[in-house]
Amino acid sequence: MNNIYDCYTLNNGVQIPCVAYGTYKAADGDNADIIRMAIEAGYRYFDTASFYGTETYLAEAVQNSKLPRESFFFASKVWKTEMGYDETKAAFQRTLDHLNTTYLDLYLIHWPLPDPDCKEWSQLDLETWRAMEELYQSGKVRAIGFSNFLPHHMENIIQNCRVMPAVDQIEFHPGYTQEATLSYCQKHHIQVQAWSPIGRARVLKDPLIVELAAKYQVSAAQICLRFAVQKGVIPLPKSSSIERMKQNQDLFSFEISAEDMYRLDTMPPTGWSGEHPDRQRVYF
Ligand code: A2P
Repeated sequence: MNNIYDCYTLNNGVQIPCVAYGTYKAADGDNADIIRMAIEAGYRYFDTASFYGTETYLAEAVQNSKLPRESFFFASKVWKTEMGYDETKAAFQRTLDHLNTTYLDLYLIHWPLPDPDCKEWSQLDLETWRAMEELYQSGKVRAIGFSNFLPHHMENIIQNCRVMPAVDQIEFHPGYTQEATLSYCQKHHIQVQAWSPIGRARVLKDPLIVELAAKYQVSAAQICLRFAVQKGVIPLPKSSSIERMKQNQDLFSFEISAEDMYRLDTMPPTGWSGEHPDRQRVYF
């Protein structure tokens, strides 16, 4: 990979850019304006979700950019309350309407369980997946997958699916790399993406990250993002400042050595959000 427009090939042949812009929380600020800045900064792959409330802002920013729809890669997600066969189809149509588009590049099931007490999650996931498969087969979405699925959730789908999932989007950053999920995905040719690739403030202040940032003469955030790129994981950084949006694309002028990658792989756990699909949120 040499720039953010270079692509991985998904297991169905679709080309997916190696870095995206994450729009979660963009709704907290000046919405369309932040996404307009991200387009200006060069991002073309935008990760959104019905839950984020940013789909309409993305549509507005894209329309104002005057760039053709085909120059963008749109990913969105079906939320916990929208799971189920009919609900997923309706949610997908709402997402298309919000994004003012006729197709999505990628559509994901946001979480494997609507809540940790849901006993029927495996059946619910299969019904949701059946709707996703039909949307895919109708040509309205170019690739389908999930977010926050762990190997046991994925196994349920893989044992019963007609269309193989192409992507799993998980929390991933130095200090929380979910190795079991990563290796499961690699074995099944499922592309992993990283939400919160910069982790929390704690990750940016971690002594190893600070040391490597000085060594490679980049920022702590760039170390985290380059780490994802070298692991073959697509990072979805979000930022509200155009300088940091640009900095977060400057990931190809340096390379973390194999030794330092091992050190990052094995550093003490840190920066976990506390989110786990099978548990109520763990607060620190
Ligand atoms: P800001 O919007 O002020 O740039 P994550 O997605 O891992 O949870 O991290 C998101 C947070 O990281 C945001 O609060 C964002 O703040 C901050 N951030 C994004 N890029 C950088 C950067 N290059 N340097 C420092 N902080 C960054």
